[in-house]
Amino acid sequence: MAGPNQSENLQNVLITGASTGLGLALARRLIPHSDLRLILTAREASLGRFEELGLEGNENVHLRPLRVNTDTERREVVREVEDRWGGVDILINNAGVAYRAVLEHLKSEEIDRQMEINFSAPLQLIRLVLPSMRRKKRGRIINVSSVGGIMAMPTMTPYSASKWALEGVSEALWYEMRPWNIHVSIVQPGFIRSNSFQNTRMTQASKESYDDVDNPYHAHYFHMDRLISRFMNNALASPESVAAKIERVMRSKNPPLRVPATPDAHLFGFLRRVLPRPVFHRILYLCLPNIKEWGDPTIETEYREQTMAIRQPDKPESEVTTP
Ligand SMILES: NC(=O)c1ccc[n+]([C@@H]2O[C@H](COP(=O)([O-])OP(=O)(O)OC[C@H]3O[C@@H](n4cnc5c(N)ncnc54)[C@H](OP(=O)(O)O)[C@@H]3O)[C@@H](O)[C@H]2O)c1
Repeated sequence: MAGPNQSENLQNVLITGASTGLGLALARRLIPHSDLRLILTAREASLGRFEELGLEGNENVHLRPLRVNTDTERREVVREVEDRWGGVDILINNAGVAYRAVLEHLKSEEIDRQMEINFSAPLQLIRLVLPSMRRKKRGRIINVSSVGGIMAMPTMTPYSASKWALEGVSEALWYEMRPWNIHVSIVQPGFIRSNSFQNTRMTQASKESYDDVDNPYHAHYFHMDRLISRFMNNALASPESVAAKIERVMRSKNPPLRVPATPDAHLFGFLRRVLPRPVFHRILYLCLPNIKEWGDPTIETEYREQTMAIRQPDKPESEVTTP
C-alpha cells in the first residue's frame, strides 16, 4: 500500500450518501475540480448507481461502500484515507433517512434507527476523522441538517429529533474545534425540488393510519402529505443549488456555523429569530393545512371522498366509495 502522500496538496473530501439526491448533485459538482480528491461513499447495494450514471472512479475519485451505521465500514474507509492520502480534510455528513410518523406510531427500534443514521453515525465518523485534522491543525466538518432541525414538524417526530440533536452536537463541536482551526458547519436545506419525499419511510402504524379515514391520526398524515408534496414540487431550491451552497462552505475561509440553504430555510430561520416562541408556534399551528379537521372523527363527507379519490387514483369516480 502506498504511504501517505500529502505533497500533492489535494484536499481529501469524504461524502456520505453520494449515490443519489443531494449527495450525488454535490459529487457531480465537485468531480471536475482538480484540487480535490473525492471519496464518494454509498451503501454497497447502491454503488452500482454510480456506474449506471456513467460516474467512474479515477485517480482523484474513489467510490467506496459505506453504510454509515456500521462501525467496521466507517473505520475501514477512514483508515484507508489516512493510510493512502494522509486523512480526511473535509467530511460531509449527508446520508440521512426520514421516518414519517407521529410519536404514537413509532416502535422504539424505529426511533433508534432514525437516530442511529441521522445522528449517531455522523458523530462516529466525526470522531474518527478528528485526530488527523487536529494533527494537521485544519479541517472541515459539514453536517447536512434540515429546517426540521430548527423547527419540528408534525408527523416527522423522530426526524426532527435527529436533526435537532445533530445541530446541538455541531454547535458544541464548533467551540471545541476552534483552537485547531477545524471549521464546523451545519447546512440547513428546507424543501428541495426532488423526489426524495418518496424515500421517506412510513411505519406499519403510520401506513395503517394513512389508509384508514376513521383513524384518529388520519387527517394529520393526509394533510401533511399533501402539503409537503406541494412544497417539494414547487420548491425553488434544487439538489444542485444546495450543492452549490455546500461548495461555498467548503471553500469559505471562515464559514458560518449555520448555513440556511434554501429560501424557506432563510425565512423560517428569520421568523424563529424575531418572533417570540409562543407567537411563532401559534402562527405555525394555525397555518397547518385544514387544522380544524385534525383529530376530528366527524370529518366532512366531502373530505372523505377527496381522501378516497387520492388513494385510489386509477378507479373511476363511480367506484370510489365513502365509508
Ligand atoms: N430532500 C429534501 O427536501 C431535504 C430537506 C432537508 C434536509 N435534507 C437532508 O439532506 C440529506 C440528503 O437527502 P436527500 O434529499 O438527498 O435524500 P435521498 O435522496 O433520500 O438520499 C439520502 C441518501 O442517504 C443514503 N443513506 C440512507 N441510509 C444510509 C445508510 N445507512 N448508510 C449510508 N447511506 C445511507 C441513501 O443511500 P441509499 O440510496 O443507498 O439508501 C441516499 O444516498 C439528508 O441528510 C436529508 O435529511 C433533505
